[in-house]
Amino acid sequence: MIARPDLLTAAERFGTPLYVYDAAELDAALSRVRAAFGGARVYYAIKANPNLTLLGRLRAAGVGFECVSAGEIARAEQVGMTGDEVLINGPAKSAGEYAAGARLGATFVVDREEEVGLLPPGSRALVRVNPALSVSTHDHLATGAADSKFGVTPAQAPGVLEALRAAGHDARGLHVHIGSAIRDASDFSAAFARLAELHAQTGDLEVLDVGGGWGVDADLPGIAREARTAASAFGARLWVEPGRYLVARAGTLLTRVVGTKRTGRNFLLTDAGMTELLRPMLYGAEHPVTALWNGDEEGTWDVAGPACESGDLLARNVRLPSPTPGDLLAVGQAGAYGASMSSAYLTRPRPAEALWDGQDWTLIRRRETPQDVWAAEIVPTAARQS
Ligand code: LLP
Repeated sequence: MIARPDLLTAAERFGTPLYVYDAAELDAALSRVRAAFGGARVYYAIKANPNLTLLGRLRAAGVGFECVSAGEIARAEQVGMTGDEVLINGPAKSAGEYAAGARLGATFVVDREEEVGLLPPGSRALVRVNPALSVSTHDHLATGAADSKFGVTPAQAPGVLEALRAAGHDARGLHVHIGSAIRDASDFSAAFARLAELHAQTGDLEVLDVGGGWGVDADLPGIAREARTAASAFGARLWVEPGRYLVARAGTLLTRVVGTKRTGRNFLLTDAGMTELLRPMLYGAEHPVTALWNGDEEGTWDVAGPACESGDLLARNVRLPSPTPGDLLAVGQAGAYGASMSSAYLTRPRPAEALWDGQDWTLIRRRETPQDVWAAEIVPTAARQS
């Protein structure tokens, strides 16, 4: 927990909207994962928050990285990751991604049968299985449903392992990732049980990678118990790929009150919105909001951003003391899929990010400028146009 005066200092020093991260909370989340999952190998899903400083800290703590794009692989390389510290996932990998993985000696997660012929020679590989289950999360976040694009069917999996081996690859095991923001251990147990049924056809395996997907408040010990049971059924070593769980709580979005409006509803207007934190708009996600000002009189507010879209809301129906322009609001549990999904829509430069180490603040991403946003654009000269 970063104390209120320190949050106020950060907003003063770096401006708003601002993402702030608490290093102690990041470390605590990793400790909870390690305590629950014992000797499992941890691959951080860097899509959740790819800031190079955070990646460096996690790398120093002995965590590997799960990557899904050439850009993420480049980030992993940038902080010194190599070999099977890098895991490459994705349903439609590009030639560049195979080449980068080959150069690093990464492990690939095979998502479809045709990939056997696309992998670089002698690749380390896992096979992603889609257990065809419905899961208690938002539809957009469910990846293990029968109609989702991910993985091969349980019936196809033994054949793909076999084909990998026949093609000279090092087929090390199976992978499953059923979705994201899942709280209920029973969703995982159903998926792992379906996987364990495969043992009769696959025999023992070196690795069982059960992905990530744990909600911020998930029953981690319960999920870990299920995962360990599944791994021991295969005689396999357990790998995990948490994204959200590792970084969500560590991050807070600081935004200033611009003003208020009372129409049919009470709107509290802030300098951050969908461009900084898309999750409420995209998934109906609820992030806790805390007023960093004092006031006796409470009201019920919809917190809305500055964008020209009705869906641009950070929260609905929250109880807050009466605000004054300039007051600071903290949007919590924003460390995962917050900054990483921020956009420059409306030529709103992406926000700055700062890290609190318990003593002081360090700026770990400067605020973009409008020039940064249009830097890649090319305006043809008059001569070339004619
Ligand atoms: N492994 C694989 C193969 C994944 O696709 C993902 C997330 C993870 C691990 C990490 O999942 P986590 O532990 O973070 O739930 N933008 C959405 C989340 C999309 C997650 C996509 N894949 C959100 O804001 O909730």
